[in-house]
Amino acid sequence: SGPAPLTEEEPNLANNADALAMDAHYVQHPHEVEAELRKEAPARLMVTPRGMRMWLITRYSDVKEVLVNPLVCKDEAQRAELLSERHEATSGLRSPEFRLIEAHMLNTDPPGHTRLRKLVAKAFTTRAVVRLRPRIESLTEELLDGMADRDDVDLVADFAAPLPITVICELLGVPENDRDKFGDWARTIVSSVGDQRLADAAGHFRAYLADLVTRKRADPSADMLSDLIAVTDGGDQLSEDELVAMASLLVIAGHDTTVNLIANGTLNLLRAPEQLAALRADPGLVPAAVEELLRYEGPVHLGTARFTTGPISVGGVEIPAGEFLAVSLASANRDPERFEDPDRVDIARQTAGHLAFGHGIHHCLGAPLARLEGTIAIGRLIDRFPRLRLAADPETLTWRFSTLMRGLEKLPVSTR
Ligand code: HEM
Repeated sequence: SGPAPLTEEEPNLANNADALAMDAHYVQHPHEVEAELRKEAPARLMVTPRGMRMWLITRYSDVKEVLVNPLVCKDEAQRAELLSERHEATSGLRSPEFRLIEAHMLNTDPPGHTRLRKLVAKAFTTRAVVRLRPRIESLTEELLDGMADRDDVDLVADFAAPLPITVICELLGVPENDRDKFGDWARTIVSSVGDQRLADAAGHFRAYLADLVTRKRADPSADMLSDLIAVTDGGDQLSEDELVAMASLLVIAGHDTTVNLIANGTLNLLRAPEQLAALRADPGLVPAAVEELLRYEGPVHLGTARFTTGPISVGGVEIPAGEFLAVSLASANRDPERFEDPDRVDIARQTAGHLAFGHGIHHCLGAPLARLEGTIAIGRLIDRFPRLRLAADPETLTWRFSTLMRGLEKLPVSTR
């Protein structure tokens, strides 16, 4: 692994009063904290709960620039260090099984990334996404059926969470019977507890995916895993390990994110009744509303970590080589320099250029699928339950302790 990000020569910023703490206040009220930061400092040192230092970038124009700066990269070795810094028990994160499923394109820099993305894009086609539509629709109806005539609905557990994991199983061709255990491993990996449970789940997950690849190779079907196995580019193909890592990236990148799109989106529509009414009056506006909900409270708060391989300048602040960056997609999307009256949900707004799916070479490959799922889920939900309302004071809702993702623990609603 690479050099430790905090060396002895460096100040211990955990004790530095100037550094911003990535703490419970920030997690529960990120938009307020970031509104101040955008005014005060283009790049601000931040300390994670485990004492890891990062530069937080909050302005729209800086975020976009940083994400395409060739001196800013992923650097897998550094990332592994960062991850282990963040967790008390590192055994799970250091396990070879976990490292293997993490060796995917989102953690890779060019030229490796360019090659992987080119191959994978050949399988992640519009056709592959569109063929999922009927299944997404019927799954949505089934879940909505289960919510009707009940008093105690948690929109996260009862609706937003089950849909995306089932869709990814459909995408990969995971047989129905295996989906519960597959979903359990995926949840353990996504929640990224750094202990033995993670190592175990990663081991099962890897072994299962490797076996699934073998079976699909022998007996291909109409799913993306079969397509990924078959894909070729001038004689180049994805190796066994690359297929397994890619499949796990689809699970990891496509799961929590879409859950949060559906739940955050529903919360913010319910908090803006005039917008919800406009949407109900014209369901053709749902795709545009989904874009605005992605801008307003996107599922990914900070882009996944970046690392400087040379000195860079952000809005006049000099950041040396060898530093971690936390690039706030959410803050960029609330920058008044880019979006007028940004703290207001406005489904009629021009949202083009929002950064909820990232920017540059790692721009979300699954965006068309996420948009399709979000549009069907939110559109059907508000159509099916005209009396849908929040069953809790929005101020009492708890956001999960993560700055990477923006997602609610629970969203109590009433459907009648
Ligand atoms: C990458 C957001 C759903 C697959 C990303 C990135 C963001 C993002 C911000 C870039 C991260 C970075 O640059 O550090 C989202 C959001 C989603 C969503 C907001 C839901 C609303 C999905 C789905 C899939 C998916 C459903 C596939 C099943 C990917 C992949 C990458 C990626 C493969 C890596 C691309 C690369 O490294 O070139 N996503 N995502 N995402 N996403 Fe998504």
